[in-house]
Order: sequence, then C-alpha cells, then structure tokens
Amino acid sequence: MHRVNILAGQVNTGAQVAPQTTGETITITDNRNGKQAVIPIQDNNIKAPDLKKLGLQSFDPGYMNTTCCVSRISFIDGGKGILRYRGIPIEVLATQSDFTETAFLLLRGELPTKPQLDEWKRDLMSHSMVHSDVATIISAFRYDAHPMGMFISAFAALGTLHPEQNPALTSQNIYDDFAVRNKQICRILGNATTIAAMVYRHRMGRPFNIPNSDLSYVENFLYMMDVYHEGTAFRPHPKLVKALDVLFLLHAEHELNCSTSAMRHLSSSGVDVYTSVAAAAGALYGPRHGGANEAVLRMLEKITNVDEFIDKVKNKKEKLMGFGHRVYKNYDPRAKIVRKIADEVFSVCGREPLIEIAMELEQKALNDEYFVKRKLYPNVDFYSGLIYKAMGFPTDMFPILFAIPRLVGWLAHWSEFLDDPDNKIYRPFQIYKGKVLEDYVPLDQRVSNNVDPKVLHVKRSAFNRRRDAALQQVKKGNDYEWNTDA
Ligand code: ACO
Repeated sequence: MHRVNILAGQVNTGAQVAPQTTGETITITDNRNGKQAVIPIQDNNIKAPDLKKLGLQSFDPGYMNTTCCVSRISFIDGGKGILRYRGIPIEVLATQSDFTETAFLLLRGELPTKPQLDEWKRDLMSHSMVHSDVATIISAFRYDAHPMGMFISAFAALGTLHPEQNPALTSQNIYDDFAVRNKQICRILGNATTIAAMVYRHRMGRPFNIPNSDLSYVENFLYMMDVYHEGTAFRPHPKLVKALDVLFLLHAEHELNCSTSAMRHLSSSGVDVYTSVAAAAGALYGPRHGGANEAVLRMLEKITNVDEFIDKVKNKKEKLMGFGHRVYKNYDPRAKIVRKIADEVFSVCGREPLIEIAMELEQKALNDEYFVKRKLYPNVDFYSGLIYKAMGFPTDMFPILFAIPRLVGWLAHWSEFLDDPDNKIYRPFQIYKGKVLEDYVPLDQRVSNNVDPKVLHVKRSAFNRRRDAALQQVKKGNDYEWNTDA
C-alpha cells in the first residue's frame, strides 16, 4: 500500500505552530520511492500545490481538513466555543451592538462612525422596495410552496431585473467598481426582508405590504409581515424587535460553512451576485445546515418519550437535530445567547411548551456518553426554532429567518473574494476509479449488462394505477376488452 510518512519531528519549530509564522518547514518522505520534499508551513498550513513536488494530491471529502482561503471576517475556536466578528466577541456584539451596525462591521471591517452608520441605515432602507415583477413571480407560486423555494427563486429573478450589474452582460470586472458592488450589497440586503415578508404574506393569502423605511431594518420586517389596516401607525413590539435583531446578529456570519463556501464557489465562476446568493441560500436550506432549525422543531413535535428518542439516536435510527457541529466541539456560543432570548420572547408571546422537551433532551444528551464522546453540543439551531415558533412564525419560515441575516456573511465573503489576488475559479480534483477504456457496443448486440434493476426503478405516480388499467384494454368493435396478454 502506498504510504506517505509525514515526519512530524522535522517540523522545525516543534508541534505548537503559532499563526503567521514563516521559515518553518515540514519534510515529507514518500516511502514508495524515498523521494523527499521540504514544504513550507505558513499559518499552520502547507500549500496543497507543494505536494505536487512528490506527484501527490490531498484527498479530503467533506473538506474535513482543508483550507481554501485567507479571510479576515470571522474567527471561530471550535474547541473553546469562541466566535468573533472582525475580532469582536459575539457576546459583546449581542449585548452592545445591533444587526445593522454589525452588518457594517462584517462588510467593511470596522465599526462605523455615527455619520457612516446613519448613511448605512439610510442606504439599506432606501433599497427596501423590490421591483414589482418580483411580486408577480412570488404570486405565481402555490400558497403552500416552501418559503425557501420562493426566496431562492426571487433572488435568482432579481438578478435578471438588474442586468446592468451582470458580469456576463457588461464586463467581467464590473464589481471592481465599489459603487456598483455596494449598490448590489444595499439592494440585496434591503430587498431581503421585503421578499421574505412577501413570501410570508403569500403563504398566508394576504396582500403584500409596502416597506416603511422610517423604521429600523428588523422593525420594518415585522411591520411588513404584520400590518393590516393600521398603516404606518403600526409598531411591532420592541421586545420582539430586539429579540429578532439579536438573532439576526448571531446568524450574520460563520466563516466557511456550507452556504458561505457555496457563495465563494459560485462567485469564483464570475457569475452575477444574485445567482451566487440564490445558490448559497439553496445550500443553507439543507437540514444539516440552516434547515436544521426547521428540522429541530419537527423533531421536537414528534417526541413523546425523550429517553426512547435518545436511544434511537444512539442506535443511529434518528439524528438529534440542533446538536453537533463541524467546528464546535464545545457549546456553540450562539446557542447560549439564543437560550436567554427565549425567555424574553416567552414573556411577550407566551411560553412555547416544546421548550420543556428541548431542555430535557439537552440535559440528557449532555450527560450521555454517546454525545460526550463525540463532543456533540447544542448548536445555534437547537433553541432558535422554539423562539420563532413562540413568535408565531410557521415552521417552514424558519430557514428564511436564518437566510436574511446570513446574506451579510455571504456578501462579506463575496467582497473579500473579489479583492483576493488568489481568487481563482474553484475546481477540485477527483480520484477516478471508473472503467479505463471501454468499447461502444452497438445496441442490437447488447444482450445484458451489470446494471442492478433496483437502481432503474422510478417511483410511479398513483394515477398510473388507473391509466395502466385503462391502457391494458383492447378495442374490439365498439367495445373494450381486457388485454389478457398484457
Ligand atoms: N445526532 C446524533 N449523532 C450525531 C449528530 C447528531 N446531531 N451529529 C453528529 N453525530 C455523530 C455521527 O453519527 C458520527 O458518529 P460516529 O462517529 O459513530 O459515526 C459523529 O457524531 C461525527 O459526526 P459527523 O457527521 O462525522 O460530523 P460532521 O462534522 O460531518 O457533521 C453536522 C456536522 C452535519 C452538523 C452533524 O453534527 C449533524 O448532522 N447535526 C444535526 C444537524 C444540525 O443540527 N445542523 C446544524 C449545524 S449548525 C449550522 O449549520 C447552522
């Protein structure tokens, strides 16, 4: 078997490699042929292209140990349960900042001055009106279409309504112009809550509301969902505005998770930012990622006995949704804050009874060897769904409530990617284990093959039972008879 020995002892400065050190190397010996390569280490990473010196590539399905960019947006220490945006701890931002200011911090790299913040808020709110064609598109969906399907489609459509920013139609360097780039950032964030509110109202069978740009970002979102005849006199409850604002802040950015990687991946092809956002939202929707908040609630609703459910999880018959994380091997710091918000929301909207099951699950899982051994802790989605439910959001709206704030992170990474001198198109390799070279056998000479009939099975719609019965008849004169040969 081919083996490559990584001679850890030859790392010049020993095991503890500090970030941003230079001059360190690792020597790798290829035991197949004795070839050695001295490979530089930087920031505790080796560059995968350096492995080419030995004719090697690195194989990493699921990117379990792969770094694909340098970023300065957020920092996570999964072992210690630390999350910082641009260096500021998430706990500090959650108590002292708000979503709009934090969005500026993430996108621009610094906290805004007062005039910058005022202008940023104005820019966001002045982009809250969406093109009326988006309303037509959302209206064309069925009333029970999943909100994420509508949200994703609306963003893909939005790009077509603004062709002047599309690199495919204008210039591949169009986004180098910061004014153009910033216009898209403001429009995407400004339109997001309006689109989300339209999706919600469509689902409820209610007419759409026009944004009220005199309100704050989150206040206006609740306003657009909830106002009926009251007009601009309507004000969402401040405690709920605050709770949703903190939830938005906590969800705004989380480095290279599945959806942000998708955003960078799409952007690397040079496609327009609306298409990239639609794709990132698609990745977010999955139950292993941002769709977990919806999945947690559906799980809690069906649990009747916590001990039995935990046994099923341990026997791999169920998954404890809202638990586990690729990076956090400790309590997700966001989950701790979310848990506190729950009580605030319950004080206004009433206690969500599923919280009792959630707390029992959490307490039992945290003391169970299965979860302890695998370092599985509650993640941000474990309690957020309960808050959304208490606030009266339908379960299928939950991923949207994640997607709106995460647009900030996606756009911050998009912008960082555009400015990165290493921003090559994303194009990983594969290990090909298929047939090397095959003859093309003409159809009339093919008698059999190795295709398992099971993989050819296509689920048939129920109406085919009637159609098949009908088609089995043969016409005899003016009558039909059963075709007994069929
Ligand atoms: N319930 C039960 N077992 C779990 C769970 C869980 N939620 N999560 C991981 N495990 C187990 C796995 O079965 C595996 O066990 P094994 O060693 O016996 O095979 C072990 O823990 C390691 O899990 P992996 O799936 O290898 O971990 P990975 O880093 O690939 O996956 C993920 C992380 C996808 C988040 C996973 O923990 C999961 O599916 N959790 C539930 C969904 C969820 O809450 N997602 C939201 C994440 S936060 C976010 O995206 C915003």
